[in-house]
Amino acid sequence: MNNTLLEKEIENLDISIEAPETEPLRQYYFIKKTRILLEQLKDKYKGKLTACIKTFGCQMNARDSEKLTGILEAVGYEILDSKKENEADFVIYNTCTVRENANLKVYGRLGKMSHNKKHNPKLKIALCGCMMQEPDVVEKIRKDYGFVDLVFGTHNIYKFPELLYNSFKAESTVIDIWKDTDKIVEDLPVERKFPFKSGINIMFGCNNFCSYCIVPYVRGRERSRQVNEIIKEIENLANDGVVEIMLLGQNVNSYGNDFEEKIPFSELLKEVEKVDKIKRIRFMTPHPKDLSDDLIEVIKNSKKICHHIHLPLQSGSSRILKAMNRHYTKEDYLLLVEKIRKEIPDASITTDIIVGFPGETEEDFLETMDVVKKVSFDSAFTFIYSKRTGTRAAKMPDQVPEDIVHDRFDRLLALVREESSKQANKIVGQTLPVLAEEVNNQDSTMLTGKLANNLTVHFKGGKRLIGNVVDVKLVECHDFYYIGEVV
Ligand code: SAH
Ligand code: SF4
Ligand code: F3S
Repeated sequence: MNNTLLEKEIENLDISIEAPETEPLRQYYFIKKTRILLEQLKDKYKGKLTACIKTFGCQMNARDSEKLTGILEAVGYEILDSKKENEADFVIYNTCTVRENANLKVYGRLGKMSHNKKHNPKLKIALCGCMMQEPDVVEKIRKDYGFVDLVFGTHNIYKFPELLYNSFKAESTVIDIWKDTDKIVEDLPVERKFPFKSGINIMFGCNNFCSYCIVPYVRGRERSRQVNEIIKEIENLANDGVVEIMLLGQNVNSYGNDFEEKIPFSELLKEVEKVDKIKRIRFMTPHPKDLSDDLIEVIKNSKKICHHIHLPLQSGSSRILKAMNRHYTKEDYLLLVEKIRKEIPDASITTDIIVGFPGETEEDFLETMDVVKKVSFDSAFTFIYSKRTGTRAAKMPDQVPEDIVHDRFDRLLALVREESSKQANKIVGQTLPVLAEEVNNQDSTMLTGKLANNLTVHFKGGKRLIGNVVDVKLVECHDFYYIGEVV
């Protein structure tokens, strides 16, 4: 549903009676109720009320934040830039817990917020996202950060209007965390960050339990959205000016595995391709263990799917991969890359790598370096292993000493940079389609856009090109970005 239709539904709701039990109607009811509450507050304080959303973590969280934004706007908050948390009357932290440093950042921010709260009586603070699914975290917030108004998790984010309303009525922190869910609630308001591109959840959760990873514990089991719901959302987005979409899931190749009649991800892609006004399709993230030949075929034959495959390697050592529970070997991975390159020669391949997994020896690490050299990734996100309580790896012996991990990390990063620079330089001189995304923040006569391979191009051009795919000649390469000219 688009926001105008939804607004009509909300208008017509009777809020003098008890809240309806069915979703999303129940949430529309609380949107309307909160709206009245906020109107009263605005009168009392003689001015507008502002909100700021701080998002940590991955694309899933970014998409969730767009949903939170939609709801905050629907109840009457004016949304501020994410850097203006000190000026806002409502601050919500959408948290990530994939590595410990993501966690620490949030506690740092909360410390400052307790000070702000003393100076702004209107200020409300909410916490949500993956970190809140950890019982220890919620306990710490209860104990040390009692000034927080609202805490909720990843499974009940659709209930935000109701929880928000309750937190206005409550004297103490409202906490609502669910352990898991089999529910997917459609048709809530969403406000996109970019008018011309959008992420779309195709599935939630993860069943893979890679031994280092906390995501399955905080996002629950895999739940796929119905094809018709996904297509309906994409059609609405296309009618609203969106030209590029990114299909989101922790392991998109297992899309539809939870349906009685299985629908492979490659079939979903074919359906998405049929949506007329969509010009570019991306997806994130496929798992190397089940990237099918069909999928490669569909990408190869598509006119819209970007030739960019993010294929997380994690480690190049088959022994470590086994301990990570990744279900592929170094050789499997290399073969897969070979197959992709053969079928889709201009495919950009990017990856994620973890250094310092428990028991990783110098030999294991050199295997990783070997894969990086052989594949010559277009880019790679490199991470230092972070021990996550509750995961299998946290209990493994031989956690690698910090100085050794840092030394390996530096060597890996240097090699990754060398290889990605090599790859980036290969396409200089070519003319390629670029989605113009924004005015360059250093030179207002320039625009900044993205190639299909996701690399950035800066080129001379006027604002009116934003949201269009234009042909740009790549004139200079600066390793991570290009300077181009519209042709
Ligand atoms: N579902 C995606 C990505 C999930 S998290 C996938 O399977 O690829 C994104 C990345 O964070 C992972 O690919 C991994 O490289 C990294 N990561 C996850 N857990 C980590 C941990 N405990 N320590 C360091 N990096 C981690
Ligand atoms: Fe984590 Fe593995 Fe699931 Fe990715 S596939 S979210 S790394 S458990
Ligand atoms: Fe972080 Fe949760 Fe994403 S833990 S990486 S925000 S799924």
